[in-house]
Formats: sequence, C-alpha cells, structure tokens
Amino acid sequence: MACHKLSIACRELEFLLPEKARMTDIEYEPDGQGVIPFGCRSGACGTCVIKVLAGAEQLDAMGNDEKDFIEMLGYCSASHRLACQTRLHGAVTIAAAEQASLYTPSSQTPCSLEPKGVKP
Ligand code: FES
Repeated sequence: MACHKLSIACRELEFLLPEKARMTDIEYEPDGQGVIPFGCRSGACGTCVIKVLAGAEQLDAMGNDEKDFIEMLGYCSASHRLACQTRLHGAVTIAAAEQASLYTPSSQTPCSLEPKGVKP
C-alpha cells in the first residue's frame, strides 16, 4: 500500500499515512497527538480546520457540504479544509491549529486563519 507524506509546517513534523487516510489519522502516529485538533470527525464541528500550504491537488476534491461548511465558518474554501473529511493521495503540507495563522499557501507571508468578516 502506498504511503504519503503529510508535513506540518513550522513544527518540523512529518507523518507517513496510507493512501486515502484522513489527515486526522496522524492522531494514531507517534508524536501525532494534538497536532490537528478535532472533535466530531464527521464534518460537523469545524474544530479540525487546517490550511493547505502545498499539495492541494493531492487531496480529495472538496464536496459541497465541506465547501459550504468551511465558508459558513468564514474561511476561504480554496485553501482551507476539514482535516477529518480530507483524504490523502500524495504529499501535502499543511498548517494546523496554532500555526495556521502564520502562512498563506502562495506567498509564505503572514496572514490570518481567522474567519473572514470577523471584527474584534
Ligand atoms: S472534527 Fe469536527 S469537523 Fe472535523
């Protein structure tokens, strides 16, 4: 079975996961606990939102339910995914949780993972 590398930016963490594994499966790998926070694992809570920095084409296409939910949460559906709903088909680099606010997929310059339109 083919395995694919899931890299977590900033934390110098890399995980090898089998084809079609969900990103949240790193929870079962050594050093993987808590890297991607999650709750429901069914696409309903939004706890597992991550930002894809590289390799978006190596993920399942985003379904309408995931797209609608990501946008309802106020994130950009072009670069954000629900880790619990996203399966790997190749090497991918993501920013997760506390580090996700540090990167944009294209420029590697600071940006925010905060939902759009939210005013302090
Ligand atoms: S864990 Fe709830 S949406 Fe992914």
